[in-house]
Parts: sequence; structure tokens; C-alpha cells
Amino acid sequence: MANSKLFSCLIFLLFVFNTANSQGLKVGFYDKACPRVEAIVQKVINDTMSKAPSLAGPLLRMHFHDCLVRGCEGSVLLNSSTHKAEKDAVPNLSLRGFQIIDNVKTALEKECPGIVSCADILALVARDVTVADKGQSWQVETGRRDGRVSNITEALLDLIPPTSNITQLKSGFQRLGLSVKDLVVLSGAHTIGTSHCSSFTDRLYNFTGVGDTDPTLDPEYIARLKLKCKPDDTTTLAEMDPGSFRTFDVHYYTNVAKRRGLFQSDGALLDDGETKAYVGLQATNHGSTFLEDFGVSMVNMGRIGVLTGTTGEIRKVCSKVNES
Ligand code: HEM
Repeated sequence: MANSKLFSCLIFLLFVFNTANSQGLKVGFYDKACPRVEAIVQKVINDTMSKAPSLAGPLLRMHFHDCLVRGCEGSVLLNSSTHKAEKDAVPNLSLRGFQIIDNVKTALEKECPGIVSCADILALVARDVTVADKGQSWQVETGRRDGRVSNITEALLDLIPPTSNITQLKSGFQRLGLSVKDLVVLSGAHTIGTSHCSSFTDRLYNFTGVGDTDPTLDPEYIARLKLKCKPDDTTTLAEMDPGSFRTFDVHYYTNVAKRRGLFQSDGALLDDGETKAYVGLQATNHGSTFLEDFGVSMVNMGRIGVLTGTTGEIRKVCSKVNES
């Protein structure tokens, strides 16, 4: 009798201990506390996509930019207060769709107050906009908690510029715990969305400061881009994947293979054996694995520097930390 009591006690302790230690990310983290979370996010996103399809790109990019600085903990969503936040860093000024994240949060707070983190909302939204653009779905791990710090200086240091060469890209991704494969796969997100001309006009007009063009960019493509983007244009948007910029397909790789990647960081994928081989394989479109690979790499990206368990908090409003 005493033995079986001891045994039950041990099992109980093991359970408690195990729960306390496996408070990492998992698929279905909210199954008990907020079972309709994914359906609610999906509904808001589908409604949004039917009215404003151009928000798919910015919302996918937002999760990446969140994860780059301090990990995927929702810091990109915080407004500046006494000090400037990540949101105000120049590379983040082109992010859009914060209102949609707020709409999702409002809907979730109504259903299950104080349960779902803003960091998880970003991860779920990134998946749902990809699917809305005809990409392939993946299972999103949840259980992230929200950070309380957002700092413009960190964003300026950690966000990866479009002028990066392959060495900088590889080391940047390595620092985040991501592989070279993740780099080439996640860059494929540039199959949707638009870019401001100013993010690449140096390649068209003044590559090395002597009025030259980037020799690695296809001259025909340069001519076409010049029609769209004048030298000091800071407002015009160019399609990242002309012709199918609202469809999540393999055309990004076809472009890169033809030396038509919009940024130096896209073109740089031809400067490394592994990334070049991947681009070549996907560009042929026969037996492309990109759509499946993307989900796998997004899960990897979504694990960067997460706060779980009792660290961080579940913000009430995504744009500001909870009052303590
Ligand atoms: C590899 C390093 C990367 C660099 C240097 C980079 C850089 C950029 C830049 C400069 C823009 C254009 C911003 C503008 O001028 O409006 C952009 C757009 C975009 N990026 Fe990236 N990016 C990278 C990786 C990623 C990743 C990993 C994702 C997502 C998983 C992503 C998703 C997007 C999307 C969807 C857009 C279009 C945004 C829109 O439509 O407004 N990027 N990126």
C-alpha cells in the first residue's frame, strides 16, 4: 500500500516536473486554454486578404523582423515610449499591417482574455498569409511569450541589410541558429510582396559611387527597373516577383537564377555552392520542394530566442507592455 502511494506520488512529481520543463513551444499549445485560436486568426486574416491582399507580404515580413531582434517575442509590435522602439528603425518603417495584428488580438482577447501572446499571433499570421497567397500550410508551434523591451539601436544592428553579400548573410543566419538551407529557403519569401525602389536603386544608378550599375544584375532587368524607379524615388513600390507577386510560388528562384533577384542579398545566393544548387533545383520547377521546405524553415525561424514558461508576459495590447 505504502509502496503504491509512493509510486503514485512519484508519477505525480514526474508529471509536474516534466510539465514545468517542457514549457517550450509545441503545436497546439492553446488546445485547452483557447481551442479556437487558430480558427479566429485565420478568419481575421482571410477577411483582411479579401479586402487588402497587398498586406500578405508585410505581415509575413513582420514575423521575420520580430525574430531578428531579441528573438520572436513580439518586440517589433511595441510603440516607442520614453525611448525609441524597433518599429521606428528605418528598415522597419516599411512594415505595414500593425492594425491587423491588433484586430487579431482584439478578437482573441474577446474569446480568451490574457491567453494568447502577440509573438504567437505573428507566427500564426505569417502562416495564414502564406496560405492565402496559395502557399503550402505548415503546423505552427505556439507557446511564445511577449518581451518587454524594444530598442531602435538593437534593430539597426540586427536587421540584415539588402546590400549583404553571401558571407554576411550566412553569418547573420548562423548567429540566429539558422542553417544555410534556411537562408536560401526563407529568402524565397520574396516571391510575394513589393519593395520600395529606394531599397535597390543604388544597383541601377550608382553601385560603386561612380554612376554605374551592379554587374551581377541582368542588364535587361536593370532597363526595366529604371523605367519604374527613378534615382531618388522613395515612394514607388516595385513587385518583388513581377507577374506573380501575389502568389506564393517558386518564381523567386527562377528570377534569381536569371540574375533578376531584386536585392544584392537575393543575387548573392548564386555565390555559394549550396545556395546556388538550391536555387538551380527550384528554378527548374520539376519536383520543386520549396513550398514544403518553406514551412520547415519557418518553424526553425519561429524558434529564435523565444520566451516561454514563466518568462516574459502575455501582453493585453500588442503595441504596449503590460503595466506592472
Ligand atoms: C535574407 C535576408 C533578407 C533581406 C536582406 C531582406 C530584405 C528585404 C527588403 C529590403 C525588402 C523591401 C522593403 C521595402 O523597401 O519595402 C524586403 C521585403 C520583403 N521581405 Fe525580405 N529580406 C530578407 C529575408 C526575408 C525573410 C526571411 C522573409 C520572410 C520569411 C522576408 C519576407 C519579405 C517579404 C514578404 C517582403 C515584401 C514586403 C512587402 O510586400 O511590403 N524577407 N525584404
